[in-house]
Amino acid sequence: MSLQHLFSPFQLGDLQLPNRLVMAPLTRQRSLQPGNIPSELNAIYYAQRANAGLIISEASQVCPEGQGYAWTPGIHTEEQVAGWQKVTHAVHEQNGRIFLQLWHVGRISHPLLQPNGADPVAPSAIQANAEVYVQEADGSHHKAATSKPRALQLDELPGIVAAYAHGAANAVRAGFDGVEVHAANGYLLDQFLCSNSNQRTDAYGGSAENRARLVLQVVDAVVTTLGDSSKVGIRISPMGTFGDVLDANPLETFSYLAEQLNSRKLGYLHINRPDWLGGTFEGFDSLLRALRDIYQGTLIIAGGQTAESGEQAIAEGLADLIAYGRPYIANPDLLARFKTEAQLNPLDGNTLYGGGEQGYTDYPALG
Ligand code: PHB
Repeated sequence: MSLQHLFSPFQLGDLQLPNRLVMAPLTRQRSLQPGNIPSELNAIYYAQRANAGLIISEASQVCPEGQGYAWTPGIHTEEQVAGWQKVTHAVHEQNGRIFLQLWHVGRISHPLLQPNGADPVAPSAIQANAEVYVQEADGSHHKAATSKPRALQLDELPGIVAAYAHGAANAVRAGFDGVEVHAANGYLLDQFLCSNSNQRTDAYGGSAENRARLVLQVVDAVVTTLGDSSKVGIRISPMGTFGDVLDANPLETFSYLAEQLNSRKLGYLHINRPDWLGGTFEGFDSLLRALRDIYQGTLIIAGGQTAESGEQAIAEGLADLIAYGRPYIANPDLLARFKTEAQLNPLDGNTLYGGGEQGYTDYPALG
């Protein structure tokens, strides 16, 4: 099959992407401790993958309260900014482009990951049936159930918006080409969007307009910080249930959000398929088509994509860019492998989260 669409260039704001492949944001839990600081090893990993038209970094907490798993990197301290500078420098040396993903996990956390052992925060005090990864004071580490969060007070929400803006400003100082607001996969902004995790009775809960209020305020603050809306993307996961979220009317919720995003003229809207970990989600493809019709800008789709499915999606006009997650973990030279129709390396599921070089920077490239 010809993959001419996948290999064609794309203009994203003032960035010229040489191809339509995006490296999806991927949690790998390999930042330096203490301090959750990106390292030289992380720089090597990203530079190996600079063949992508665009790299989106792993999710990075915008404040200490935004962390939900041990060893994930942050973007709120000077040491983290200096660490990320190593990463952006290495990617740019390889002629790549990289956005940072701005993250707050909300209720997908645990007191062991929170400042002063506090309870995590969320739109409402509803515990998620989900797991996180924690490290104990004695250094041992293990999976744990998320703990019951406390509901954010109305007067705390400006501080949440400010944390994203601060993270965005730090991302610019760290040399990123742009940022992606993580509003997907059951984390804080998605907890506000989805009806089962947001039972607020103030201006941030109830209607789709109210549930989308915080994410739009975050987007606007981040755009103001960067001073160029084309350098801001947003990731959503309509119909997704990861993180124990469930929206009663995803067509209504996400159509409203997509309409509101039109006037923001962002770099892109990034949609993660709900079946990225398997499962069947009836009606998602028609929902995706509806969102494609509503949203007037650049669309990225992610989740279980192959070279062929990506080519077909672009050819049909369903998406502009295709994000690859697990294929980019196992194949640093994914572009070359697609071009030569080479076999892909198998993914080692045991080295996805945490550890060092193994299963991270040691996947072989061709020849
Ligand atoms: C994860 O750590 O499993 C994870 C992180 C961010 C996502 C999805 C999954 O968006």
